[in-house]
Amino acid sequence: MYLTKEEERIYDGERGWTNQMCMRILVRLGELFNAAKLVRISSAHVSGVSYKTLGDAPAEFLEALANAGGNVKVRATLNPQSLDTEYLGRRLEQSLREKQSNILRQFERMGFTESLTCTPYYLKKPKRDSHLAWAESSAVVYANSVIGAWTNREGGPSALAAAIIGKTPDYGIHKPENRQPKALVTVDTALKNPTEFGALGIYLGRLLRDGIPAIQGLGNTSENCLKQLSAALASTGMVNMFHFKRKSQAKTERLEKVCVEARDIKNTVESLSTREVSKPDLVFIGCPHCSLGEIKKIALLMKDNKVNKETEFWVCTSHYIKEEAGEYVAQIEKNGGHVLAGVCTIVSWTEKLGIRTIMTNSAKTAYYAPTMNKAEVTFRPLKECLTTALRG
Ligand code: F3S
Repeated sequence: MYLTKEEERIYDGERGWTNQMCMRILVRLGELFNAAKLVRISSAHVSGVSYKTLGDAPAEFLEALANAGGNVKVRATLNPQSLDTEYLGRRLEQSLREKQSNILRQFERMGFTESLTCTPYYLKKPKRDSHLAWAESSAVVYANSVIGAWTNREGGPSALAAAIIGKTPDYGIHKPENRQPKALVTVDTALKNPTEFGALGIYLGRLLRDGIPAIQGLGNTSENCLKQLSAALASTGMVNMFHFKRKSQAKTERLEKVCVEARDIKNTVESLSTREVSKPDLVFIGCPHCSLGEIKKIALLMKDNKVNKETEFWVCTSHYIKEEAGEYVAQIEKNGGHVLAGVCTIVSWTEKLGIRTIMTNSAKTAYYAPTMNKAEVTFRPLKECLTTALRG
């Protein structure tokens, strides 16, 4: 892989151990995927932030990088952590709080922005055609497909290394030829809500694995629907983007053809519930993290109805959006719900809180919660989740 003189100096250790270590990670990755060079990025987003998913050894590695003077070169944001200090932190052991806060401290020492969200594009939207090194899979698909930015699905270490070097290897979806669709998907049914968009993503991810789809017939392409589709597609497949604007017939002639029918969506929705629970321990909205519009919608749908005392109702988002949504947050919390910032169900210790059954409108959470949270899941649209939370 070609390196500039300055990149070679970093590689040889002339700019310190942290920079050398990070450059070596990037070069190794680039060589593995036949990258010709490194490309500058405008931002990096790191996914391994929760102590629950990270564990002790990577946390020690972070501390070593920070001790050796590691510092980010570009805007660098972080995924959610395992607890928030206000609500979950009070209910979990002190040792977990300490380990989690030590991880955050190391990121902060290296100049990371404590965004603690999987929707960093609500804080600052990347420019179209800009190169990124993002590691959160749902945000990767959204950034490539909806925003029009360019990012591979990084692992935690490569996103961290890219943040510190300010560059990433030029391979995969950074190359225009690798962004072309492999399959033409026609959705032959009207998707009724974001939850069904999530089901479509789960279905296509299983079917296409890493083949990029050009999807026709989506109808409503609101940001929220496309966000659910992005998160779900990345859960079951290695797809890093989809196209959803109509392509000319000539461009689609040679593509594999896939037709998605109403029964495919119905079967997928049903497959994502492990048990039909009418009184779940937790009703969870906010995977991926909620936008301001979603929080407003939840508050308006709740009106003055109270959450049933036997049910927890969590709405997860970033600190930034929580602050923006002040009046709606106050209304949800006045009614007994909890708007949790910087955290999510999947990366938190719900088992330790006694949560065994979860109802959610998110296909990604429905897909992961049985293994990540050892919970039974009921997958339902937002309105039904709310009715359940309020009725108990
Ligand atoms: Fe975000 Fe957690 Fe879902 S990190 S995408 S809310 S699993």
